[in-house]
Amino acid sequence: MSNKQHYEGSNITVCFDASRCIHSGRCVKGLPDVFRAGAEGVWIFPDAASADEIAALCSTCPSGALTFHRTDGGAGEVSPEINTISVEADGPLCVHADFTLNGEDPGGFRATLCRCGASKNKPWCDGSHTETGFSDPGDVAPFNPDAETDSGRLDIKPFKNGPLFMVGPLSICDSHGQTARVCDKTVLCRCGGSRHKPYCDGTHAEIDFESE
Ligand code: SF4
Ligand code: FES
Repeated sequence: MSNKQHYEGSNITVCFDASRCIHSGRCVKGLPDVFRAGAEGVWIFPDAASADEIAALCSTCPSGALTFHRTDGGAGEVSPEINTISVEADGPLCVHADFTLNGEDPGGFRATLCRCGASKNKPWCDGSHTETGFSDPGDVAPFNPDAETDSGRLDIKPFKNGPLFMVGPLSICDSHGQTARVCDKTVLCRCGGSRHKPYCDGTHAEIDFESE
């Protein structure tokens, strides 16, 4: 469930969706005067840095919890030229793409998707991979890393009790940032059990994985 809060400054409004945050700490380390860790109630102060600095920082939030709206005429975040999904070691699938979720626009171009099967906020990552000790190096066997990539929108479809269907132009990167596969359709594991990660191999049925 979305829980978006809006913090208005003179030149930029910062939007924070707590339900998407994976507590990477990038915001509080990057601009500690703006994103004040430990503050009670209001914790984002959009006038404590320039709108350019805040926009640049928000654009690195891996989960998409942070988005922004410029009120000074400055540029908004632009969609990446290439849709990518990066497989994080022992962690989620990191999306940087012009994407929809089940055909709907969740807002922004970034997301972290659960691939350990334990998130209580599926399909989003909620950090449960750390508690459960999920372990996977994030390797992706090279397939056609040099293939030409198309542009266009990616639709992500979480299949009930099953994998993530990806339909649309996409590059899949391993945990070292190397492009391993270019495709326009694939099926990725989100139950954590596949023996062929990051792809689904049908294990979700054997382990009775449940998710809407
Ligand atoms: S996921 Fe985004 S909002 Fe959450 S701590 Fe990291 S940078 Fe900040
Ligand atoms: S979703 Fe994990 S094996 Fe299919």
